[in-house]
Amino acid sequence: MVKIKNIKSRQVFDSRGNPTLEAEVFSSNNTSAFSIVPSGASTGTHEAFELRDNNNKDYLGKSVFNAVSNVNNIIAKALKNINIDDQSKIDKTLIELDGTDQKQKLGANAILAVSMACCKLAAIEKKIPLFKYLSKNKDFLLPIPLLNIINGGSHANNNLDIQEFMIRPENTNSFSEAIRRSFLVIQNLKKMLSNTNVGDEGGFAPDFKSNEEAIEIIIKSIEKSGFKPEKDISICLDIAANELKEPKSIDYYLNLIKNYPIKSIEDPFSEDDWDSWKKLTKKTNIQIVGDDLFATNKNRLNKGINEKSANSILIKPNQIGTVSETLDVIDLAKKNNFKTIISHRSGDSEDTFIADLSVATNSSQIKTGSLARSERVSKYNRLLRIEDALGNSAKIAKI
Ligand code: PGA
Ligand code: ZN
Repeated sequence: MVKIKNIKSRQVFDSRGNPTLEAEVFSSNNTSAFSIVPSGASTGTHEAFELRDNNNKDYLGKSVFNAVSNVNNIIAKALKNINIDDQSKIDKTLIELDGTDQKQKLGANAILAVSMACCKLAAIEKKIPLFKYLSKNKDFLLPIPLLNIINGGSHANNNLDIQEFMIRPENTNSFSEAIRRSFLVIQNLKKMLSNTNVGDEGGFAPDFKSNEEAIEIIIKSIEKSGFKPEKDISICLDIAANELKEPKSIDYYLNLIKNYPIKSIEDPFSEDDWDSWKKLTKKTNIQIVGDDLFATNKNRLNKGINEKSANSILIKPNQIGTVSETLDVIDLAKKNNFKTIISHRSGDSEDTFIADLSVATNSSQIKTGSLARSERVSKYNRLLRIEDALGNSAKIAKI
């Protein structure tokens, strides 16, 4: 039996240049694996707690040395000698050790980094890829990518109040074909813009006259690439409504859906406006995605299932704080015919855990930025490698 021998954490940096936490787990075989936690900008209040040293001015209050110390001094002792492949015991121990609802005591950043690193190490010890280790299935689906090609809201310095303008390739027969189409659209969009600076998730971030102008230029770049909007490539939005100064109405969204090839809208309303969510979901048959609404939390998802508040859930492991709880939420969603979209955070890293998670859970979609900035591209590259390794058995999900 391979056991956890030691855990060592340190402060590293995320793609926005902010401090974040890495945990490295060592086995009784002297093998090790590490994981880095991401960090959001448009974070909801129902998310698990990210522990930062607010009073330490050396890093403008953003350092994570207290969380690092929680791993090195508290978590490492509690997990020592547990079997590395007993993820449910590992996560249960972490949850009980913290003992709070939102992991305020040890910090969800400290807990998740350890939880993910343990999975990676167990996969290494078993000599199987992470997606196979995390999965209960024998057949695997590659997720359809949602690429955020124009950034706004709190991810960019421009005047767009909608946070994410994404493209989703439709009806492709492989993941690599989905990426090829996206590549062409991004390159054609680039040619149409005079300012090609990118935002936090790698999408272009110039000023536009309006949200509609941003949507229209994406439609032009889809056509320029030789594709049919809606049939070959559709548009998906993340409004991130918690961050809006002026809330948008149900009619605003119904008009957008009527006028443009929009197939998915995430967070159209703020995180506790359950009523509006329910009304919009009833009035449309497109994908309505709960991010801040559900916060990858089973109780909130249960409420959403009962009230038919949405038909899809965004899955961010650091909103809940352990791998086991993340897998439980995905299970609950699938049992109730909610689509699962595995997601990065706007502050991310070279860690590609979510790419494996998306394949392991046969999630229909993944959202991990544009084809720019290595912390985004690394996830797509990981999926291309998985597709290649699966060979003839590799299939892409269907919506
Ligand atoms: P965040 O953005 O990581 O800044 O929260 C991602 C999202 O809202 O989906
Ligand atoms: Zn979101």
